[in-house]
Amino acid sequence: MKIGILTSGGDCPGLNAVIRGAVLKGLKSHGDGFVGFRDGWRGVLEGDVMDLPRTAVRGISKQGGTILGTSRTNPFGDGGGPEVVRGTMERLGVEGLIAIGGEGTLAAAQRLSEAGLRIAGVPKTVDNDLDATDYTFGFDTAVQIATEAIDRLRTTGESHHRVMIAEVMGRHAGWIALHAGMASGAHAILIPERQVSMDQIVEWVTDAHKRGRAPLVVVAEGFVPEGREMAHSERGLDAFGRPRLGGIAEQLAPELEARTGFETRATVLGHIQRGGVPSAFDRVLSTRLGMAAADAAAGGHWGTMVALRGTDIVNVDLPSALGRLKTVPEDRYEEAAVLFG
Ligand code: F6P
Repeated sequence: MKIGILTSGGDCPGLNAVIRGAVLKGLKSHGDGFVGFRDGWRGVLEGDVMDLPRTAVRGISKQGGTILGTSRTNPFGDGGGPEVVRGTMERLGVEGLIAIGGEGTLAAAQRLSEAGLRIAGVPKTVDNDLDATDYTFGFDTAVQIATEAIDRLRTTGESHHRVMIAEVMGRHAGWIALHAGMASGAHAILIPERQVSMDQIVEWVTDAHKRGRAPLVVVAEGFVPEGREMAHSERGLDAFGRPRLGGIAEQLAPELEARTGFETRATVLGHIQRGGVPSAFDRVLSTRLGMAAADAAAGGHWGTMVALRGTDIVNVDLPSALGRLKTVPEDRYEEAAVLFG
């Protein structure tokens, strides 16, 4: 069988390992051949394709980014739709697709599957907020990068007796903030799921300062202080028409400085968290997910996605996997909050 692979949405460490896992498993176990669509759904809509022989995936599991390129093109957008996708597949002799992407990509895959197209999904997001899988690849790497950066902020903060605020990714879920904050011993962790007042943040920062520490605050980009409406939308809209978040650290810093009297600096880690080589954990997880996606295709399990459950890789139906955001549960936040201040 000839299978097309695409990577869609924001990139994420581990994408290349998924591609390699799928290609090697498909070739060796099922005799499949592979092509890659360039830049996600754009490549599918326009028939922009590259061959993926074994040599194309040699040594790529440790490379960041995606060798296929990615975009936020919506396959149902202008000039798209199931018939365009079907037309490309028929013209190129592609019998099935493996779509590697986040909630938007998987929802599109589900709609195309309902229209009769043969698609299997691989869940992807550094935010780790897809409910149907225990962990998403890229998350471990992002936490590692954020932790290392926060450790560095700590030493400069200590030297200058400053409050340091690190802003990490996480629009709707604070997993990266929770894990990197715990790992780096933050004095406060602020996440979108949890309303925290400015008074409480001031108290944590002041307590840490009283004990002679340089207070360290880790904030997820989607956090809004209790009772506030931060001007997130000023940063414009993303490709899906949602407000672009970010900038919360820069909004908190002057207010914290004014209220505590401690010099405060904000650092936005941004896309550094998605760049560079994946961790060993992410390479293994990605490779296993890619291999399982090739198996799903060979077994005709279209309309499903692969997922991590415990230590097993399983197949779940796309409709049951979609629409549920995995947010940080209250007890996980309370557990971390014991260490604040
Ligand atoms: O969803 C993954 C993510 O990295 C978010 O954490 C972040 O808000 C967003 O993508 C950034 O998107 P873009 O790469 O389009 O700026």
